[in-house]
Amino acid sequence: MDCKKFVEGQIAQIRQTVGQAMAINALSGGVDSSLVTVLAHRAIGDRLKTVFIDSALMREGEPKRVVDTFAKMGIPVELVDAREEFLSALAGLTDPEEKRQAVTDTFYSKVFGRLVKESGAKFLFHGTILTDIEETVAGIKRQHNILSQLGIDTEQAYGYTVVEPLKTLRKDGVRDVSRFLKMPPEIAERIPFPGPALATRVVGEVTRERLATVRAATAIVEEELADSGAFQYLAVLLSDRATGIRDNKREFGQIIVVRCIESTDARTATATELPWDKLNRLCSRIVSEIPDVSRCLYDLTPKPPATVEYI
Ligand code: XMP
Repeated sequence: MDCKKFVEGQIAQIRQTVGQAMAINALSGGVDSSLVTVLAHRAIGDRLKTVFIDSALMREGEPKRVVDTFAKMGIPVELVDAREEFLSALAGLTDPEEKRQAVTDTFYSKVFGRLVKESGAKFLFHGTILTDIEETVAGIKRQHNILSQLGIDTEQAYGYTVVEPLKTLRKDGVRDVSRFLKMPPEIAERIPFPGPALATRVVGEVTRERLATVRAATAIVEEELADSGAFQYLAVLLSDRATGIRDNKREFGQIIVVRCIESTDARTATATELPWDKLNRLCSRIVSEIPDVSRCLYDLTPKPPATVEYI
């Protein structure tokens, strides 16, 4: 692909589409939404309002890290604290689909919907890529962002038009364009991270305390496996407990699962053959550094039949 041509073409098209109107987008820090932010900002400058919504489901230090990274690129990002709204929408829910729906509804119908209205934006930029469209149309993914492809007229329903500058690219193309634009490696080379964030890695109820546990495990896994070369690696908190023994006392502790996979597009995956030493180190750090966790498991299941995430 000719990255220069793609960038110039998209910038020209964005300018033509948006004209003098205001536009808005939600940045997650993932490579797709980051590239959209950079392209739209180059095209329309401060007529783009970019928000980062802190849903309480993010990884350790993530909201600040993303805002700071974009500040260094000269792109202002407004940090919106919506932690309480997400936590209260998730309270009491244990069914995976209900949890996903609660995150989607809180994001689109409540928090982002409100921000879009307040901003007066007529255009909404979205980081949809070709794979999202294909998987949604094929019914593989229950993607919430492919509105037009599902026959929803956003202009009529919500008063804004969705613009999707990346809809002809796949992930490798998005990474190529991001590198071409000299975006920092922590964005361009970032491993996939799901939209509903840590909610996909807490089996059972998502609470502030349980998020803190999975967040701490995630930080250890990401630190230990950063040089693994794997496609994706993550930590999951199960809803079961298991008996353990610590300081000569029995405890009914929590269980963390570590998942690390090889894949090219996440449609199929196999478990990475991690060295025994590495697995031992991961296990020992997780059970010693995180309070109340007394067991750590490594998931060997390929996709299919298992999915990558746990909900
Ligand atoms: P699954 O769990 O479906 O995940 O095997 C496949 C890949 O997609 C990511 N994933 C998501 N990405 N929104 C996203 O943007 C989501 O709701 C979502 N669910 C899963 C997952 O991390 C893996 O890379």
